[in-house]
Amino acid sequence: MSKICLCLTAKTIKRNLEILNKYRKYTDIAELRVDCLDSDERLYIRRFPELAGLPVILTIRRDIDGGHFMGGEGARVKLLARGLAYANDDSRFNFAYVDIEEDFDVPSLEEAARTFGTRIIRSSHNMQGVTEDINEKTRIMQRAGNEIVKIAASVKTTSDVLKMYHASRACKCKDKIFICMGHYGIYSRILAERFGSFLTYSSALSEDEKPGAPGQIDVRDLAELYRFKKITKKTKVYGVIGNPLKTSVSPWFFNTVFGLENTDAVYVPFPTDSVNDFFELARELDVRGLSITVPYKEAVLPLLANRSPAVQSIGACNTVYPCNNETYPKPAEDGRKIPFGWYGENTDCTGFSDSLLSFVNKKNLKFLSVTIIGAGGVARAVAAEIFRLGGKAIILNRTVFKAKNIASLYKFGWGGLDSQGVELMSKYNDIIIQTSSVGMGGYNNEDPLELYSFTGKEAVMDLIYFPPLTPFLKRAAMAGCKTINGYDMVIRQACLQYGCFMGNEIPSQLFTWINTTGDNTWNRIRTG
Ligand code: ATR
Repeated sequence: MSKICLCLTAKTIKRNLEILNKYRKYTDIAELRVDCLDSDERLYIRRFPELAGLPVILTIRRDIDGGHFMGGEGARVKLLARGLAYANDDSRFNFAYVDIEEDFDVPSLEEAARTFGTRIIRSSHNMQGVTEDINEKTRIMQRAGNEIVKIAASVKTTSDVLKMYHASRACKCKDKIFICMGHYGIYSRILAERFGSFLTYSSALSEDEKPGAPGQIDVRDLAELYRFKKITKKTKVYGVIGNPLKTSVSPWFFNTVFGLENTDAVYVPFPTDSVNDFFELARELDVRGLSITVPYKEAVLPLLANRSPAVQSIGACNTVYPCNNETYPKPAEDGRKIPFGWYGENTDCTGFSDSLLSFVNKKNLKFLSVTIIGAGGVARAVAAEIFRLGGKAIILNRTVFKAKNIASLYKFGWGGLDSQGVELMSKYNDIIIQTSSVGMGGYNNEDPLELYSFTGKEAVMDLIYFPPLTPFLKRAAMAGCKTINGYDMVIRQACLQYGCFMGNEIPSQLFTWINTTGDNTWNRIRTG
């Protein structure tokens, strides 16, 4: 099982100890990043293992390796020697590990470390990317004794992550650490066990200290949300693919449910630049189910072995899982079955219509007229459901032809987000549904419908759930409209996904809890 290493990057020893004490219950090993300490503090590193009271890694990271040590190599060797000097017979008072780069060449220092039982982590950092000859590099770095090989590389693509994963599998070292640094590599830190890593590095991000390296996860999230210490070979892996995937509620939702239900499973964010590459990796990581989000709901279609009628008619898929007896495609004429295939489902549709009907307290939309703002993937599912429920609608979008394309499928009206479009709304304003990404993330103050004045009688739904109140929804609420954000819908569609993944429905009391109190909890977690 992999260990959690808390990276300590404060400027003083005192502050590092405060942080360590606060997060001690999550921490197996601490890494003292001496390069982050103020220079006068560096004089006192020798006592740190005794003060820490758990195994500590001594690391002085150079700036070329992504660290903060700007001095010369002589000064660094001197500091390392200071940390390893006066070794105590009781090994708990010594550094348990020392991180030494592959090109470090001071045999006497290494010899001293070995003599007193300090394990060497032989490390390579590549801030530019994954080297072509990564397997050869890993082979050369494996030295005699009980050294740990550590390869950390900045990954720019999912293909880089694949390379790192293969290199890790090929490395026969007993203890190794393979880390994919950066946005696309975040899951190599959560799934350290699958990547064969001896430990994963994390930071106390909520303490306003800098992360030890790009992409490190908050130590509390790692331990509590992802239940890192319970991840074993048997743990079933699920996740969400998308890009950039910064505001997805799904990891919180699924991991909370798995935790409450005591299910041996983890749900991981899989940001990716390539669906094809990720699907290759997903097979190797034995991923059992995926949520699909922006911008891959259509791109995923060619990779499916079979798809549900909803996916077929809408042309967008937000859920995939391995085909089972019911979902397997019919055998080809030669009778040959494909060995493995993904089945695609769309839970956005039912999640949306369940949420809308409960919001307007109706069984269908007959005699109701609707304005749909936006004409992307989500709007497709929304329009299909409004048509199915008997409503009439217009679709308004910045790019008018996209609105027209969807609207013509259902004989709906269409228009732009301009004064003409807004004029059309006077006959379609029982319900207004905002599906565009305007206002998402709370990064700006944009309102996609600023030309429209609410009468106060409209029922207004904004499918964005972070922030909970977009400028658009706020304006509607101020005008007296009944409003709802997208949290209810996203939880409903996630519950349906849970059914696809697990084969059984989510317990209703769990749904109620998540839907009534989860909104606040999640938003608190998200905003730190
Ligand atoms: P999704 O799958 O979430 O619907 P999408 O397919 O990328 O995502 O669609 C995003 C929607 O938000 C589109 O309707 C887009 O309008 P365009 O079709 O004109 O691109 C809309 N959108 C994004 N940014 C916008 C902006 N600044 N103003 C108005 N509409 C915007």
